[in-house]
Amino acid sequence: MNITIIGTGYVGLVTGACLADIGNNVFCLDVDAGKIATLNAGGIPIYEPGLEAVVESNVAARRLSFSTDIEASVAFGDIQFIGVGTPPDEDGSADLQYVLAAARNIGRYMNGFKVVVDKSTVPVGTADKVTAVIQEELDRRGRSDLRFSVVSNPEFLKEGAAVEDFMRPDRIVIGYSDDDNGREALAWMRRLYAPFNRNHERTRVMDVRSAEFTKYAANAMLATRISFMNELANLADQVGADIEAVRQGIGSDPRIGYSFLYAGTGYGGSCFPKDIQALTRTARDNGKALRVLEAVEAVNDDQKSVLTNKVLARFGTDLAGRTFALWGLAFKPNTDDMREAPSRVVLDVLLRAGARVVAHDPIAIEETRRVLKLDFADAPALLDNVRFVSAKDPMEALAGADALIIVTEWKAYRSPNLERLKALMKTPVVFDGRNLYEPGTMKEAGIVYQGIGRNSQ
Ligand code: NAD
Ligand code: UDX
Repeated sequence: MNITIIGTGYVGLVTGACLADIGNNVFCLDVDAGKIATLNAGGIPIYEPGLEAVVESNVAARRLSFSTDIEASVAFGDIQFIGVGTPPDEDGSADLQYVLAAARNIGRYMNGFKVVVDKSTVPVGTADKVTAVIQEELDRRGRSDLRFSVVSNPEFLKEGAAVEDFMRPDRIVIGYSDDDNGREALAWMRRLYAPFNRNHERTRVMDVRSAEFTKYAANAMLATRISFMNELANLADQVGADIEAVRQGIGSDPRIGYSFLYAGTGYGGSCFPKDIQALTRTARDNGKALRVLEAVEAVNDDQKSVLTNKVLARFGTDLAGRTFALWGLAFKPNTDDMREAPSRVVLDVLLRAGARVVAHDPIAIEETRRVLKLDFADAPALLDNVRFVSAKDPMEALAGADALIIVTEWKAYRSPNLERLKALMKTPVVFDGRNLYEPGTMKEAGIVYQGIGRNSQ
C-alpha cells in the first residue's frame, strides 16, 4: 500500500518506519526542513531504542522516504495519516491548528479517493472539523466529486518502547463513519493492519467519536492511577507506612493489577499533562466538570515539588553554597524527551534558591541544555551553576555533593556502589524520587535516605 505520514515526529516517524517495515511504501512529510534534512542524511532526530535500525533498513529498501514536498505527499498515499502535534492552547484545550493545516493541504491537492487518518490525539468532534476543512477546499477547487473519509486511529505507543509498542499493539482502535466512503475507508484500514492481527484480533472497530474519546479515556485512567498512588504515598510518609509494600499488596489483586502504580515525582512527558488538561476542558465546554480528573492534575502539579520540598525542609530555603547531584533529566528512561519533565521543576527550585547542580543523564543532556535556555530566559546567569558530567559514569556527579537527588529511574542508577557513593559525597544524603533502593539497606550503609512514601525520613 502507498501511505503518507504528515508530521514526522515521535509518532509519525515510528508509524512510518514500522508500516514500511511490514512492506508498505511510506512517504513521510514534515514542514520542519531541518528534521527532513537530518533524516535524509541518515540521522534520527530523536532517541528511541530500535528506531534507527528500522529506519535505516527501510530507507535502504526504498520503502521509506522523507520530504517537505506537500503536493507530492498528497499525491503519494491512498492513506494519509495526520500525526502532527496537538499542543495545549492557553486555556488547556488541544490546539488543532496543525491538524487543520494538514487537512487543508489534503483538500487542496488530492485527486482521487483518500482515507484520511487522524493519528494525532484529538478531541471528540475533530474528525468532523477535518472533514469540513477538506470539503471546503474541494468545493473551492470545484472538485466536490472527489471522495474521502476521515478515520480516527489513535496511537497508544509509549516513548522509550515505541517501536515495540507499535509492532505489538494491545489494540488497534479504528473509528469510522457508517456510510459508503466510511466503509471503504474501513476496508483499507483492515487491510493495512491485517499483519498485526495474525495471532489474534486486536482491532476494535467503533464510531469515530468513541475512538477519539478512547484515547483520552486511556490516558486519563493511567494518570489517575499515578496521582492516586502519589497521594497515598504522601500519606504513607505521614503515618509511617511503606508505599512499596502497599503497592505490592494491592497490585496482587487482579482487579487492580501491578502496572502504573509507582509513586514518584509526578507524571510528565508530552501526553499525560496535555491530554488530561484537554479532556478536562472538553468536559467544561460541555457543561460537565470531570472532578476526579481535575484533582488528578492538581495532585500532579504538587507532586512535581515533592522532592524539592524534602530538600528545602532539610537544608533550608537558602541553598547558596550547597551543591546537589542530580541523576536523571529525561521525563522517563530510554528517551531524551524533556517535555514536562519533573527534573525541570527540580532544577528551577534549586538554582533559584542559589544552589549549584551537577547533573547526569545517559541521553538527554543536549536536550536539557536546549530547554533550560527557555526555562531560564529571565535569569540566564543561573545556568552557570549547572554542570553536566559525562554520560558514562553517574558517580562523577557526586563529588562534594551535599545530597543526591534521583529524578529518573535509568538502569544505570539501580545498584550504585554505596561505599564509593559515601566516599565521594560531602554528606551522604539521598532523595530518591523513584524508590530505587531499600531504606533498610541505605540505613545500614550509613546513608540518610528519603524515598517517596517509604517511611524513611
Ligand atoms: P512531535 O512534536 O514530535 O511531531 C509533530 C511533527 O509534526 C513535527 O515534526 C512538526 O514539524 C510536524 N508538523 C506540524 N505541522 C505540520 C504540517 N502541517 N505538515 C507536516 N508536518 C507538520 O509530536 P508527537 O510527540 O509525535 O505527537 C504527535 C501527536 O501524537 C500528538 O497529538 C500526540 O498527542 C500524539 N501522541 C504522541 C505520543 C508520544 O509518545 N509522543 C503517543 C501517542 C500519541
Ligand atoms: C503515555 C501513555 O502511556 C501512552 O499510552 C500514550 O500513547 C502516550 O502517553 P509516555 O508519555 O511515553 O506514554 O510515558 P509513560 O510510560 O506512560 O509515562 C508517563 C509518565 O508517568 C512518566 O513521567 C512516568 O515517569 C510516570 N509514571 C508512569 C509514574 O509516575 N508512575 C507509574 O507507575 C508509571
